[in-house]
Amino acid sequence: MEANPIIAPSILAADFSRLADEVAAIELAADWVHVDVMDNHFVPNLTIGLPVVQSLRKATSIPFDVHLMITDPERWAPGYAEAGAYNVTFHAEACENPVALAKTLRAAGSKAGLAIDRDTPVEPYLELLPYIDTLLIMTIKAGFGGQRFMPEMLDKVRDVRRRIRAKDLEVRLEVDGGIAADTIAQAAEAGADAFVAGTAVYGAADPAEAVRHLRALAAAAQSSHD
Ligand code: DX5
Ligand code: ZN
Repeated sequence: MEANPIIAPSILAADFSRLADEVAAIELAADWVHVDVMDNHFVPNLTIGLPVVQSLRKATSIPFDVHLMITDPERWAPGYAEAGAYNVTFHAEACENPVALAKTLRAAGSKAGLAIDRDTPVEPYLELLPYIDTLLIMTIKAGFGGQRFMPEMLDKVRDVRRRIRAKDLEVRLEVDGGIAADTIAQAAEAGADAFVAGTAVYGAADPAEAVRHLRALAAAAQSSHD
């Protein structure tokens, strides 16, 4: 059985001029806040980096789930762990030795996450599951919020869940991209137990209520599946 669902609103869809307020709006309802770091190189988009994370870290107590869509994560990822991120996720496509970087991140005080983009098969990475804390399956192509959920990515989620169960591993299985009230149940049924939601949370009139609703839908889908 999957662990209690984690709901991680993505501040990519928030008002960047009021970031601390936007995080405060969800901090009692959500489990993590998801911070999308993009470098205009690994992905075409450009967002925020370490100084913003360091400042925001002081403004809230909710755990930070940092998603690095950047090249050369070996150079930059440890700084986010040192800044107090709970989980730091880097992309498989950008990293030559994920196990070594995961070890470095854990030594720097965070959990270690590995992300698999839309066009990357998950099979070669299944053997790395014992060395990481979070596996993030993109359910869109990484780079922009507001894209449409791709249900065909759920085969990867099923493959990973099967391996986690078979080996009795403690790994969070996270999905990111297009997660909303009409898609979260199918992701939970496929075996995801952590859910990033940008537009579905910050596009809602009441972001905290949107988080609670997503959590209820995920939990119901998990229990109907068991
Ligand atoms: C996109 C980011 C996502 C993004 C999701 O590359 O990794 O975290 O914020 O946004 P929505 O939920 O709007 O698809
Ligand atoms: Zn993300």
